[in-house]
Amino acid sequence: MNPNMGYLVSINQLTRESILSLYEQVKKNKLAGFSKVKPVLQNETVALIFTEPSTRTRVSFEIAAGKLGAQPILIQKDGSSLQKGETILDTFETIHAMGCRYFIYRSAGSEIHEIVHHFKDRAVIINAGDGTNEHPTQGLLDGFTIWEHVGHLNNLKIAIVGDIGRSRVAGSAIKVFNLFGIKPYVAGPKTLVKNLSKGDVQVTDVDEAISKADVVMMLRVQHERKDVAYEHSEKDYLQNYGLTPERLKLAKPGALVMHPGPFNRGVEIDDSIAYGSQSAILRQVHNGLWIRMALLENFQKVLS
Ligand code: CP
Repeated sequence: MNPNMGYLVSINQLTRESILSLYEQVKKNKLAGFSKVKPVLQNETVALIFTEPSTRTRVSFEIAAGKLGAQPILIQKDGSSLQKGETILDTFETIHAMGCRYFIYRSAGSEIHEIVHHFKDRAVIINAGDGTNEHPTQGLLDGFTIWEHVGHLNNLKIAIVGDIGRSRVAGSAIKVFNLFGIKPYVAGPKTLVKNLSKGDVQVTDVDEAISKADVVMMLRVQHERKDVAYEHSEKDYLQNYGLTPERLKLAKPGALVMHPGPFNRGVEIDDSIAYGSQSAILRQVHNGLWIRMALLENFQKVLS
């Protein structure tokens, strides 16, 4: 990470070198184990402001903050003064006034840019997913999971399949892959594969994307985002666009199967694959904790 930045909003802030340095740090930390984690955030508070639902990102940041000695606090729309009409900026300022200097923010919109600009160097702010734009810590953990498994990120064939145009996970993962010279193959229903730059990805059909792939990344159909007409039944989706055992055979033997979660069982991924021998889904979750701990550890140096 660039040590002068007190925020992580987009993968655009990072370089190939800064990502590799983070991955080496995480590899070393994982080898040392949880018992060697230093409480570098003792006496700090980490505020998780989540106005959209989350399990993995929220809980892993909570655990990461706790392991580093900080007190994590959770603010959600329900039950907070956001419900009474307080603005998000005023919520940030209110919590900051209580001595909190670390914020993890998930939202449906892209106001994180305005919040970062407002706070400047008074707080660390990490994007935990801003609408359909980016989810940088997910992109970093996805890249790390591949790097750890394969040993590098060079010249890999990566397929990303499903609800891509609206996916903040894809938004960040594609940027990570591009930094390593990888132009992922993307495929899915036409209405869901959109808003993509031809310079960043290769749009194709599902079987072609998966064929001889080293990594197959499936994405969740985001039923909660109702902006696009989508007309397949769940069974049709699995047959036409989902990862079935037959389709997985098209990939390289032993190809890594990924999904950021949560997944729709039997829709974008067959039940037998989700936790099968090629699946890295739970490893992604586990790595998310280590990536987020390392990021918080690095940001601590910015504020101290
Ligand atoms: N992958 C991901 O962001 O999951 P959550 O929504 O559960 O945090």
